[in-house]
Amino acid sequence: MEPPFPELDWHKPLPLHGWFLVAPSSQLKRGTVLTFDLPGLPLVVFRGEDGAVRAVQAYCPHMGTHLAHSSVHGSSLQCPLHHWRFECGGSHGSPPGCAGPGAPAKLQPRPALRSYAVREACDAIWVTPRQEADAKPFPLFDGVSPESLLYKQGTPVFLRCPWQAVVANAFDLNHFQTVHARALHGTPSIDDQGHRLEFKYMSKVTGNELADRIMRKVSGNAIDVTIHCWEGSVLTVKTRTQRRETFLWLSFLPAEGGTIVKPLYAVPRGSAPLLSRLRVQVAGWLFHAFLKKDIRILEGMRFSPKVTPEEDPYLCKYLSFAARQGSGSIPQPHSPQPL
Ligand code: FES
Ligand SMILES: [Fe+2]
Repeated sequence: MEPPFPELDWHKPLPLHGWFLVAPSSQLKRGTVLTFDLPGLPLVVFRGEDGAVRAVQAYCPHMGTHLAHSSVHGSSLQCPLHHWRFECGGSHGSPPGCAGPGAPAKLQPRPALRSYAVREACDAIWVTPRQEADAKPFPLFDGVSPESLLYKQGTPVFLRCPWQAVVANAFDLNHFQTVHARALHGTPSIDDQGHRLEFKYMSKVTGNELADRIMRKVSGNAIDVTIHCWEGSVLTVKTRTQRRETFLWLSFLPAEGGTIVKPLYAVPRGSAPLLSRLRVQVAGWLFHAFLKKDIRILEGMRFSPKVTPEEDPYLCKYLSFAARQGSGSIPQPHSPQPL
């Protein structure tokens, strides 16, 4: 019989190459540089004096100086050691490479800096280890303009388990009652859309903790949930109740010995700014109250799923999706070339 999903070392992090949340936009002022390490791909992200954000390889192609200490001039980055200047023209989004400085006649042209696709959206900066032409769709909610939402970044959490264990939790309906005190209404649906996996279900609250009681009250006890897993690196979750919609992004960054999970919450901007700010705080608090139950249990997990499609068809579908996403390799920067 066909295995329901590939047999892999599930407890080791699979390669991951979707979009990653770097930092809130406010953390990167004009003319400043941030370091951001993707697995096997150290980067620096900088904001030019024109306001546009770029992401480039972290090491200077001349002698390998880390560019965290470089200076920004217009849309160029200048290495601190010998002042080679790399022109990273273009506006938001990266050109294929940032041209190296000119060289005296008869010498080989100097190498360029490799650049990566970057987005500034949802009050945050995002990067992918792909170049602009190869970038996959950015994780947005269907039919919802990012400008129509009010955002709040949650506190990042480090979990000692691979990213695919954390994402699998969202597709594991069998823990909903045992961990979250939630029951399902009706039959869920799951749809592998190629670059993302869509999961929809309706749930109701059965617990009696404070967050459960508030959720029951504000939702009318019918919560319509739509989850998208975007190449594994981001989960988007939309919850719709009789009164309103709330939105959550969870960005997963593999790190030494585990995964950094960065949450970003949002609600629609209403006509009363104070009320919208209050709503996004409450949405963040309710999501956090839900997620902290998973955080406690996933910490230190040695992920080794043994489930059958009869027992859990949704989780099996996710594991097949994760194995496929993890089978590609992350594009590496060019190694420094001799002059
Ligand atoms: S190491 Fe960067 S210019 Fe020489
Ligand atoms: Fe969970």
